[in-house]
Amino acid sequence: MCGIIAYTGNQNAAPILTASLRQLEYRGYDSSGIALVSRGKLKTYRAAGKLAQLENRLPNKISGKIGIGHTRWATHGEPNDQNAHPHTDTQGRISIIHNGIIENATELKRKLEAQGCVYTSETDSETIAHLISHSIISNPKMAFLDVVRLALKQLQGTYGLVVMNADAPETLIAARSGSPVIIGIGKDEMFVASDSAALSRYTREVVHLDDGEIASINAKGFEVTTLDAISMSKQSVMVDSSQLNYELGNYDNYMFKEIHEQPESIRRTLSGRLDHRFNTAHLGGLNMSPRDLMNVRRVCILGCGSAYYAGISGADMIETLARLPSKAEPAAEFRYRNPVIEPDTLYIVVSQSGETFDTLAALREIKRKGSHVLGVNNVVGSTIAREVDGGIYMHAGTEVSVASTKAYTSMLTCFALLALHLGRVRDLSPQQGEQLVNALEALPEKIKVALEQNQQIKQLAKKYHHINSAFFIGRTNAYPIALEGAQKLKEISYIHAEAYPASELKHGPLALISPQTPTIIILPDNDLLGKSISSLQEIRARKGPVIALTNAQNEDIHSLADDVMYTPNTHPILHPIIMGIPLQLFAYHCAIAMDRDIDQPRNLAKSVTVE
Ligand code: G6P
Repeated sequence: MCGIIAYTGNQNAAPILTASLRQLEYRGYDSSGIALVSRGKLKTYRAAGKLAQLENRLPNKISGKIGIGHTRWATHGEPNDQNAHPHTDTQGRISIIHNGIIENATELKRKLEAQGCVYTSETDSETIAHLISHSIISNPKMAFLDVVRLALKQLQGTYGLVVMNADAPETLIAARSGSPVIIGIGKDEMFVASDSAALSRYTREVVHLDDGEIASINAKGFEVTTLDAISMSKQSVMVDSSQLNYELGNYDNYMFKEIHEQPESIRRTLSGRLDHRFNTAHLGGLNMSPRDLMNVRRVCILGCGSAYYAGISGADMIETLARLPSKAEPAAEFRYRNPVIEPDTLYIVVSQSGETFDTLAALREIKRKGSHVLGVNNVVGSTIAREVDGGIYMHAGTEVSVASTKAYTSMLTCFALLALHLGRVRDLSPQQGEQLVNALEALPEKIKVALEQNQQIKQLAKKYHHINSAFFIGRTNAYPIALEGAQKLKEISYIHAEAYPASELKHGPLALISPQTPTIIILPDNDLLGKSISSLQEIRARKGPVIALTNAQNEDIHSLADDVMYTPNTHPILHPIIMGIPLQLFAYHCAIAMDRDIDQPRNLAKSVTVE
């Protein structure tokens, strides 16, 4: 998604802007640009494609101690040079960068064009530059900050933005309504960014803007007010340094690195949370007493993408262990269907980034209707983490690859801990609790063993990567494993992949089974193994190739499947965690064999901060 960076201080801004954009690259983008005020003039450089295209276009020396930079993920207008940010007004004095969507841009454009503004892009964002410029012309005596306030009040939609004015070249104005903006505090220099990663080389001290706030920033400091000019006092926080210095090391890409970090990331998620005395999980951040938990009658989990799939597994874990009716729903669908919010339902929003727009909007809708919401989040201090009533931090560490791996398994681990905790408050016996505590403790080592299959899975990917389409199937708690497996394959290899509950096979997808369409069948060692093997047989009877993923020692699987991937066995609640690993590796090796861009797959973004 779009990335924002801005600088004002004593140094040359251009190298700082490009280095910071490099840190934002992982979020996914299709064009980039920077603008500076140099000797009273606005200089703008923009290029479609990767950051290298922009760098090739930059002159060797660009002066200017104030500047703004942007990586764009196209929403309005194709990814070309003209649509890249920063955008400028007709007079070439105002420059803006914007993350979000301006919903009334077409209407405003019509009016602004009638008043002589000349548009040079197809974006909604350009409207902001013209609107500010037009407000300056209409209110020549008004202070710049007030003019920007006036302009922003006319916008409908979402924004995280920075405005630079060649006629006020010491000040940056930043504002937030729905898309993250943070101010980075340096010594005699200040920064604005959409993500603390962009500031990693320069400062750890940041201030988060909240929705409806606007900041005026110069090299010496900043002032935050609301759009109605009410002064706000803001506290700075120190960003956890482990979030900042996350390098590739000896790995070729972040996805492979992150897949291999899972024994450690899961260990961190579990750290200090397993309670052997009472055979439960210790979760200090829930802000709910055992009595509050006893009063919960239902659980509803909301998230997007892999977080939603983790939520489906989470709901199954909670229903199984705590015997509470539990479900997961895509956050965007939930918020738009005017959901019934019940006081005795425990709502949980799950998000790696803590910035996903639809998840945040669902959270706000539930809170608006008066219910309690917990978060399962990775990024400390993210918007969702700040707005929930309590929750569980994943502590998975920074995740850079667009395709989620270690964050996904840490989400599942958080849900297993929560299910254990809720279960032990209710009917789960100490013995059952102890089994799960022990299984969780042993999990990181088992993940290590699962990762040892890397070479075999690489061979499997060599055999299958030419396919056009694949099915992933599983029953009950293996179905979300299938969903996430299919998601990983399509995200990074671009092979069409669909997941079905295995029981649904004969109600439709069986029509598409052929020697060209393999099925990956998830076969956990549980009571339903026999039924799932019947599904395997149905596929073989239609000459469909089958890759079985199992932790069962079962001869039939070997004789029926074309290929088998194994994982160590574990507590049935934890099957989705361990069985996800080979599917991550399978997708990864297929994508490598097809020479795909692993960490930044086409059209996708790491953190989706627009609707
Ligand atoms: C994007 C990413 C996915 C991720 C989803 C939710 O679509 O490409 O990998 O699962 O957002 O992100 P979140 O940060 O809320 O977990």
